[in-house]
Amino acid sequence: MKLNSANINVMIKACRKASKILIRDFGEIENLQVSLKGPGDFVSAADKKVEKILIEELQKARPDYSILSEEIGLIDNDKSFKWIIDPIDGTANFLHGIPHFAISIGLEHDKEIICGIIYDPIKDEMFVAEKGNGSYLNNQRMRVSSRSKLKDCMIFTGGPKITSENKELSLKEYNNFSSTVLVPIRKLGSAALDMAYVAAGRCDGFWQRNLNYWDIAAGIILVKESGGFVTDFDGENDYIQNKTILVTNSKINKEMIEVLNK
Ligand code: IPD
Ligand code: CA
Ligand code: CA
Repeated sequence: MKLNSANINVMIKACRKASKILIRDFGEIENLQVSLKGPGDFVSAADKKVEKILIEELQKARPDYSILSEEIGLIDNDKSFKWIIDPIDGTANFLHGIPHFAISIGLEHDKEIICGIIYDPIKDEMFVAEKGNGSYLNNQRMRVSSRSKLKDCMIFTGGPKITSENKELSLKEYNNFSSTVLVPIRKLGSAALDMAYVAAGRCDGFWQRNLNYWDIAAGIILVKESGGFVTDFDGENDYIQNKTILVTNSKINKEMIEVLNK
């Protein structure tokens, strides 16, 4: 089984094309690490190149859809359909030669994400989901994990950034989870892949403050179609507006909310 609706095929094609540039540029990073200038400018150029290819491909297939993309912002066309793009999620990993980053594209219809793709070009792992049709990793059906006790779970988070408001709150939450789970909390550096890993059952739960819509858009549908929960820290639906996202399998949502509200 696999997903093969027209929109999914458009997204896969765009990702495959853009990932060629991404893989090639990632191969250059090692050389740039040792140069005096460093890879900073090169990486922001890679980000823009990938974004350009994604937008060209998506616009070719769906000229009327709106686009919200991290680097260029909003292209305001059709009010009901919108692509939400993060050309490289995990830029700091990319910049440091760490092979853990992804392209992320979500498709919003009437304010709801209906399709999502998160593609890790280095591991060649493509996570895709479509509303009502399930979620897949390289054409294999995905399911969230079934662990039910938070203490036995693998939990991910990210941040806080140096500039983050609420830094103290994030650290308090980190501290509370650290005192609850046996396996130390992971910070892998790509929120999109964090969510894809919850969808795939590799990780049981993920929480983070201050993420942007493009970081999480595709992940939302992946997790939901895998049978997981996406909520804010109170178990409500306002995670995009509140910028507090909690992503879990179907068993530990309540327990994670309790820890977040300690
Ligand atoms: C970042 C990653 C990271 C998260 C940051 C994001 P970027 O996105 O998702 O995991 O902790 O908050 O900004 O900058 O690599 O696209
Ligand atoms: Ca991002
Ligand atoms: Ca990015």
